[in-house]
Amino acid sequence: MLVIRELVKVYPGPVPALQGISLDVPRGMFGLLGPNGAGKSTLMRILAGLLEPTSGQITLDGEDLLADPERIWNKLGYLPQEFGFYPHLTGEAMLVHLLRLKGVRSSGGLPALAGELLERVNLSFAAKRRVKDYSGGMRQRLGIAQAIAGDPRLIIVDEPTAGLDPEERLRFYRLLAELAEERTVLLSTHIVEDVSVLCPHFAVIRGGKLVARTTPGEARASIEGAIFEGHVRKEDLLKLRESRFVTQAILFEGKNRVRVWQPEGAPPDGFLPVPATLEDSYLVLMRSDGLPHPHEHAAPRHKVEFEAWGEDDEPGDGGRPPPFRRSAP
Ligand SMILES: Nc1ncnc2c1ncn2[C@@H]1O[C@H](COP(=O)(O)OP(=O)(O)OP(=O)(O)O)[C@@H](O)[C@H]1O
Ligand SMILES: [Mg+2]
Repeated sequence: MLVIRELVKVYPGPVPALQGISLDVPRGMFGLLGPNGAGKSTLMRILAGLLEPTSGQITLDGEDLLADPERIWNKLGYLPQEFGFYPHLTGEAMLVHLLRLKGVRSSGGLPALAGELLERVNLSFAAKRRVKDYSGGMRQRLGIAQAIAGDPRLIIVDEPTAGLDPEERLRFYRLLAELAEERTVLLSTHIVEDVSVLCPHFAVIRGGKLVARTTPGEARASIEGAIFEGHVRKEDLLKLRESRFVTQAILFEGKNRVRVWQPEGAPPDGFLPVPATLEDSYLVLMRSDGLPHPHEHAAPRHKVEFEAWGEDDEPGDGGRPPPFRRSAP
């Protein structure tokens, strides 16, 4: 179990990138979901021992991760968001180089170990190809190959699916799911699908703060019965956004198909109730202080006040204050 307590990181500026994160991460796959600038990479770099926090504690299976990062270095695997490869090396040579940098030792020699690792991530067929000819998914699998050297208890992967095409993403999901059978895999992402496919538990961070720690089922249940869908004309969308909590507006067959979160009161005319998705609950979370309690909207105890939400305000701005607030009755 990875235990994070009151973790704070303030970059020079000062930029408060993490503002007191406390989180328990059990074995298996755990998602860290958040928009750009939320603090995901900062948290992951600290966990990987590459960045010193301003304050806070981290333990892995009871061992202090911050006191002696080098000692537990070999129990960790890390795939950074930006992974540097030498494009002209073959995959195999690149991996041997990375293993050497990491200080990995192997009685059979590093080339033999690299061969085993490439096999593990289904890249044996491309061992002798240059990395520059690898697809995005193949590069990510090569990155995973170095991360799993030494069979670490904790693997940290920072936005590994960004930029992968759907087929590569599926293949990468399978690899991650396999790895998570025996260890903790902490996966950061801003893609909700990564969480719904892979993660039995996940946390949402925004603006350096933990907004929720939950499960996909619980997150959906908290807004179930309060999501409505309908079609509106382009010119009416802005008005709707001002008066309602729009979670999604997608163009579909030339019309705007719009979903609103309406925890109480009547939905817009012509809107029908639809099953809530994880995407809906993430978008609700992005603009609120936490998940609503399940069925709270059935017997409302809180009044929800809306503020105008502009057309160009995408719910991806980690630092922006939430456009609505809950107030006690
Ligand atoms: N070295 C640095 N110096 C100063 N500020 C930084 C530094 N690195 C990150 N930040 C700031 O800290 C905040 C968190 O950044 P971080 O990279 O951890 O977010 P993130 O969730 O990984 O975002 P993304 O999804 O874009 O990768 C941002 O406001 C960012 O601009
Ligand atoms: Mg990042």
